Amino acid sequence: MALSRFWGLFLVHIALLSSLCFAEDPFVTYDFDVSYITASPLGVPQQIIAINNKFPGPTINATTNFNVVVNVRNKLDESLLMHWSGIQQRRSSWQDGLLGTNCPIPPKWNWTYQFQVKDQIGSFFYFPSLHFQRAAGGFGSFIINNRQIIPIPFDTPDGDITILIGDWYTRNHTALRKALDAGKDLGMPDGVLINGKGPYRYNDTLVPDGIDYETINVHPGKTYRLRVHNVGISTSLNFRIQSHNLLLAETEGSYTVQQNYTSLDIHVGQSYSFLLTTDQNASSDYYIVASARFVNESQWKRVTGVAILRYSNSKGKAAGPLPDPPQDEFDKTFSMNQARSIRWNVSASGARPNPQGSFRYGSINVTEIYVLRNKPPETIDGKRRATLSGISFVNPATPIRLADQFKLKGVYKLDFPNRPLTGPPKTETSIINGTYRGFMEVILQNNDTKMHTYHMSGYAFFVVGMDYGEWSENSRGTYNKWDGIARSTTQVYPGAWTAILISLDNVGVWNIRTENLDSWYLGQETYVRVVNPEATNKTEFPMPDNALFCGSLGKLQKPQDVSSLATSIRSKLFFMVLMIASTLFLLLR
Ligand SMILES: *[C@@H]1O[C@H](CO)[C@@H](O)[C@H](O)[C@H]1NC(C)=O
Ligand SMILES: *[C@@H]1O[C@H](CO)[C@@H](O)[C@H](O)[C@H]1NC(C)=O
Ligand SMILES: *[C@@H]1O[C@H](CO)[C@@H](O)[C@H](O)[C@H]1NC(C)=O
Ligand SMILES: *[C@@H]1O[C@H](CO)[C@@H](O)[C@H](O)[C@H]1NC(C)=O
Ligand SMILES: *[C@@H]1O[C@H](CO)[C@@H](O)[C@H](O)[C@H]1NC(C)=O
Ligand SMILES: *[C@@H]1O[C@H](CO)[C@@H](O)[C@H](O)[C@H]1NC(C)=O
Ligand SMILES: *[C@@H]1O[C@H](CO)[C@@H](O)[C@H](O)[C@H]1NC(C)=O
Ligand SMILES: *[C@@H]1O[C@H](CO)[C@@H](O)[C@H](O)[C@H]1NC(C)=O
Ligand SMILES: *[C@@H]1O[C@H](CO)[C@@H](O)[C@H](O)[C@H]1NC(C)=O
Ligand SMILES: *[C@@H]1O[C@H](CO)[C@@H](O)[C@H](O)[C@H]1NC(C)=O
Ligand SMILES: *[C@@H]1O[C@H](CO)[C@@H](O)[C@H](O)[C@H]1NC(C)=O
Ligand SMILES: *[C@@H]1O[C@H](CO)[C@@H](O)[C@H](O)[C@H]1NC(C)=O
Repeated sequence: MALSRFWGLFLVHIALLSSLCFAEDPFVTYDFDVSYITASPLGVPQQIIAINNKFPGPTINATTNFNVVVNVRNKLDESLLMHWSGIQQRRSSWQDGLLGTNCPIPPKWNWTYQFQVKDQIGSFFYFPSLHFQRAAGGFGSFIINNRQIIPIPFDTPDGDITILIGDWYTRNHTALRKALDAGKDLGMPDGVLINGKGPYRYNDTLVPDGIDYETINVHPGKTYRLRVHNVGISTSLNFRIQSHNLLLAETEGSYTVQQNYTSLDIHVGQSYSFLLTTDQNASSDYYIVASARFVNESQWKRVTGVAILRYSNSKGKAAGPLPDPPQDEFDKTFSMNQARSIRWNVSASGARPNPQGSFRYGSINVTEIYVLRNKPPETIDGKRRATLSGISFVNPATPIRLADQFKLKGVYKLDFPNRPLTGPPKTETSIINGTYRGFMEVILQNNDTKMHTYHMSGYAFFVVGMDYGEWSENSRGTYNKWDGIARSTTQVYPGAWTAILISLDNVGVWNIRTENLDSWYLGQETYVRVVNPEATNKTEFPMPDNALFCGSLGKLQKPQDVSSLATSIRSKLFFMVLMIASTLFLLLR
């Protein structure tokens, strides 16, 4: 009794202390042990990146305005950065986990990310951003819940279920990287994983025996929130559940106008929340399918992810053929119309109490315009590279944000062109000069023959239009100026354009890239540098105390006592128990 009172007081004391020392917002803390494991999701043993020995990694579960602390221990044999895709890192590109802002965490080192998920709600994910590592795993879901005082535009669901879908190769990520370095194409993936698992054996010819598949357990007569993320490499996936409607409710932090879909195309890097009502007859289980889009179905049949939706009163196994994908192999109009139908619920509140719709993006004057045009990979100086507006980005040895902090000259060029270069392609560290508080219009023109998705760090942008053909000034007449969705990752169809509007209110250096991992690896990215001309800590946090140094600042880096990795209290205890056990064993034998 006395003891518990002591602990109670102690905790109150800690809570008081932390509320004095830090902002009043709560903290959530995670330890991420990043290491290789061997697993066989498609029946072939391979090296996979796990977090705390799990693949996929754990879900980060936070609430709007929480402070998130993630201590990442790099137990890989190469450097590592964790990127928090869609998390806006307001005022803190220092925590974004990309080469433009952070020095890589060397093998055997650990590094602690600390950031606030300021004014955000919704479904996001994280992944390792270097060395093609995402192709080997290391990813997981990142949820930001609403605060109690903020209503959500639907009844509280009976459950919250994360589904990570993505194409997958049985080659390891070093082998894939070597292929790209040698100028080769990666070819067709070997399958699609759902939550790190291979397909259910819906067809004996197509799926070998002994593959572990994912089962989603539900009760009848309930409504679940499914958060579905495409964490794959390059394949657009059509997501559907046999005999069930998917009521779309949220995407990457914005509540959508709620509409039912029988299937939805989810492109690489995109996240969606669906409300699933378990209103079907439980005579059997149902298939959950993620199949490749815009490909020759007869060749890509085995590149299909299949999981099982099991009602608690289910009477048998799922059977028969998979539910049909959209029948439009050579007609992408259907898919684009579907993309256009995803609109913002302007009357739903977001992370802030005021209705988001009160921010009328359609009436704000654009201050700068960039047309970013990609192309299929091409050869530059004997190497196969991918470009944006004729420039293949080269990451500087010293991260851009760090170079600015130390006023280093010549690390990058602030000369990214407003219109695509017409001359021969080049490799360059050229970035966009963003005007603080400007309103930027970006037209993403996909001149590749493949589907691309573009992502921007630090922001949610408004998707105001997309169409086939070349964008022109006249295309603005078709823009949605009212309820275009705000998100961080948008699809750009081959031979088509997508227009986005960005309110440049977040100071920092922010990545804009294709989510197609091959093209990203080959240089299809740049950064937008947003600087507040007024020197103040109000619009950007100071450099964190634990910032790593590299490149021309490498001499500032103190060595890390990597032995500390092995001597954390927990492992000390474990070691002690081991010692005692082995001593006992020796004594007793
Ligand atoms: C996240 O945390 C909240 C509050 O602790 C909890 O109610 C919720 O069930 C958690 N969600 C998930 C998906 O774990
Ligand atoms: C590394 O992890 C240890 C143990 O959790 C922690 O005390 C230390 O602060 C971490 N170091 C860095 C640089 O994040
Ligand atoms: C939009 O949000 C409002 C407020 O939460 C909600 O009442 C309404 O049903 C939503 N509308 C649609 C079409 O989803
Ligand atoms: C990765 O794949 C390459 C090529 O198949 C192989 O030589 C290598 O041993 C693999 N590495 C690991 C750690 O599995
Ligand atoms: C399994 O797939 C093969 C190859 O696509 C197909 O020929 C066969 O009809 C399928 N079997 C069943 C039972 O659907
Ligand atoms: C969506 O479909 C479900 C049945 O699965 C139905 O109950 C619901 O009313 C539909 N909602 C909308 C907005 O169409
Ligand atoms: C459930 O489905 C099975 C098979 O389709 C059918 O035989 C049965 O009558 C259905 N039951 C109800 C209650 O609809
Ligand atoms: C699709 O692939 C099949 C099998 O390889 C081939 O016979 C067919 O011609 C292909 N269809 C198209 C339209 O390329
Ligand atoms: C936008 O520009 C127009 C014409 O240049 C001007 O009349 C209008 O006041 C501006 N609107 C805002 C919100 O600044
Ligand atoms: C970058 O933009 C600012 C205005 O936002 C301008 O003052 C500055 O000259 C620009 N720098 C370069 C190198 O173009
Ligand atoms: C790429 O651009 C060229 C030149 O404008 C055009 O002829 C071609 O159709 C475009 N291809 C695609 C896939 O957009
Ligand atoms: C910002 O914060 C840093 C570190 O706390 C401090 O050294 C610096 O003087 C501050 N700058 C301004 C403009 O307040």
